[in-house]
Amino acid sequence: MAKKPFVVVTRKLPERIETRMRELFDARLNIEDEVMGPAALAAAMGEAEILVPTVTDRVDASLIEAAGPRLKLIANFGTGVDNIDVDAAHRRGIVVSNTPGVLTEDTADMTMALILAVARRIVAGANVIPAGEWNGWAPTFMLGSRIAGKRLGIVGMGRIGQALARRAGSFGLSIHYHNRRRLAADIEEGLEATYWDSLDQMLARTDIVSVNCPHTPATYHLLSARRLKLLRPHAILVNTARGEIIDEGALTRMLEADEISGAGLDVFEHEPAVSNKLVRLAKAGKVTLLPHMGSATREGRIEMGERVLVNIRAFVDGHRPPDRVLPTML
Ligand code: 8YV
Repeated sequence: MAKKPFVVVTRKLPERIETRMRELFDARLNIEDEVMGPAALAAAMGEAEILVPTVTDRVDASLIEAAGPRLKLIANFGTGVDNIDVDAAHRRGIVVSNTPGVLTEDTADMTMALILAVARRIVAGANVIPAGEWNGWAPTFMLGSRIAGKRLGIVGMGRIGQALARRAGSFGLSIHYHNRRRLAADIEEGLEATYWDSLDQMLARTDIVSVNCPHTPATYHLLSARRLKLLRPHAILVNTARGEIIDEGALTRMLEADEISGAGLDVFEHEPAVSNKLVRLAKAGKVTLLPHMGSATREGRIEMGERVLVNIRAFVDGHRPPDRVLPTML
């Protein structure tokens, strides 16, 4: 029997996936789940034939250039690949794969939950009784804003954007979207979605904006200080994609100045660091902050692991991994 490939997994994965990793490969797991710093990652990339990183590992060009000659596949446990320099990997002949599709519904659920949490003040409300501050119902107590009848602007209409549109439509929101490419007419019709070629115009005319595009060099600070200023004072902004897509400093200043009604953030520009200003705004009930848990379901994590296993197996058997990520230059 051929020697099993040496696979380094950088974080603790669901037990079922780790068991399978051990059965199929010569797997080095991270049972303690300590985040690997650049030095540990460089050492792992020096030995590994296959690396399984996550969003918490920055696999940049310098690490890729210094990787050992045996490294042939980076099978990311996650859909977004902004943690990996895919072009640098391609130059070194290293294939990159990801785990698309399996976290679409969970992430769309969490996006809808954030929209409701911000509009209906769910987090502040949930704290009232445990804090012993409830004296009974009152007509003007804990008022939020109705979402039915409002306009939702989705920035990035891929799988997750479309799954959000399906949910939001049944909550009575009208669906608007901006995307690099307009959707096919039948899909647009099915979602009853209105396409905006101009992101600026959509931002200025929607009540709730949700960021659902990937983070790439083209989407870094897509919601820049200038664009954020286009939002109306009653607008709500939610982000379950990547922190880097929004100029977080500019958003914070607008929240502090009441130039936007609220925000729901599951991702941050300098994750896991979150600024004290945002934390203060959260305590004041102006923003809802979640610790990057959009795709965090037991089922989703197992399905992500299964995709990683399938990608590795296909590659080891001499096939193209089904979820191969192409470099930008191709
Ligand atoms: C994952 C995500 O949990 O897959 C993604 O792109 O943002 C997350 O939901 C994470 O990336 C795992 O690496």
